[in-house]
Amino acid sequence: MPTKTEGVEPAARGSAWRPGSAKIDVGILGATGAVGQQFIALLANHPWFRVTWLAASERSAGKRYGDLSWRLPTELPEETARLSVEALKAGAGPHLVFSALDSSIAGEAEIEFAQAGHIVVSNSRNHRMDPLVPLLIPEVNPEHLGLLPLQRKVKGWSGAIVTNPNCAAMPLVIVLASLRTYQPKRVLVTTLQGLSGAGYPGVASLDATANVIPYIDGEEQKIETETRKILGRLVADAVELHPVAVSATSTRVPVINGHTESVSVEFEKTVSHEEILAAFRDFSGEPQKLELPSAPQPPIVYHDAPNRPQPRLDVERGGGMVTQVGRLRACAVLGHKFVLLSHNTIRGAAGAAILNAELMAARSLLG
Ligand SMILES: NC(=O)c1ccc[n+]([C@@H]2O[C@H](COP(=O)([O-])OP(=O)(O)OC[C@H]3O[C@@H](n4cnc5c(N)ncnc54)[C@H](OP(=O)(O)O)[C@@H]3O)[C@@H](O)[C@H]2O)c1
Repeated sequence: MPTKTEGVEPAARGSAWRPGSAKIDVGILGATGAVGQQFIALLANHPWFRVTWLAASERSAGKRYGDLSWRLPTELPEETARLSVEALKAGAGPHLVFSALDSSIAGEAEIEFAQAGHIVVSNSRNHRMDPLVPLLIPEVNPEHLGLLPLQRKVKGWSGAIVTNPNCAAMPLVIVLASLRTYQPKRVLVTTLQGLSGAGYPGVASLDATANVIPYIDGEEQKIETETRKILGRLVADAVELHPVAVSATSTRVPVINGHTESVSVEFEKTVSHEEILAAFRDFSGEPQKLELPSAPQPPIVYHDAPNRPQPRLDVERGGGMVTQVGRLRACAVLGHKFVLLSHNTIRGAAGAAILNAELMAARSLLG
């Protein structure tokens, strides 16, 4: 049976951003890593943003970007290749910076940039669970941007920090959000995570090849806690965590890009197989309504074929921004189970942060 993914593309990359106005300059912190390179690839020809400033560690600082190793199959844009990599220096660089910094450095560095007035749209884990920092998925919790005025007031920053979730939490939350009406109560998830999720150079080839590593440091806790924050309600300037209980097992598998997840869910309310399929199909959010340039249309795609989605065949669908689901069936323990797939460095990282910034631009929050 054919899969239902034909024609799924991100919204046209030509949507108007204040027609006639110039593109917004953006910088990338951690521009040389796996996620940093994905930012550069996704921002090439972006209708609203243009990359004008790059920063990384002292190892890369002072070098021309084009002289460093480019590891993506798309061409490195010439105007980016010409830029010289800067050392991390808050106050330098454009007002809007995307952060793809290693978490060993991101915590402090992002605060320094926010203090210096930058809007930091980050991938790193360090500030995700800070009660005053939005942990944002524009389709799921755009109202959490309402934390920003309080963040500025309490922390005294003239800039701000907004984060996107862990790459394995991302697709799980999108799918649970589509089923929110039925009140997800308990979730069991086992992940099979691609190698690019470990950054570059990542896992040693002798550990990764023809193998499964049943442990990823810190990953299970991120999936279990971030899910509850993102699905939580913003009540009186604070996010009330969602009551769903999530139990995660994370594994690393020899796949380059793409996190596959086997998920079982119990709901408070009774829900049929057909109602779940309809919820996947009908799910949509503010990015789709606003036709943001990186918004996947639709955000969730369900595969009828019993052997899909597969990372090698499907991960690039919808520009890597679509959350793909298959194998919905009964679960003897929790009621319902399915498999999902998401591109970890696009929907799970750089693409997610760009969509966050697009939503902020559309809401005039980048000023
Ligand atoms: N990979 C994914 O799928 C994924 C998904 C979601 C979130 N994330 C998060 O995104 C961030 C980046 O991940 P990644 O996979 O791109 O990692 P990566 O490939 O290891 O890249 C790390 C980046 O941080 C820079 N860096 C390291 N130490 C630094 C220092 N002391 N000062 C300044 N820059 C420094 C590196 O610069 P040099 O090249 O100069 O060393 C490089 O640009 C991490 O926080 C990660 O947890 C990753």
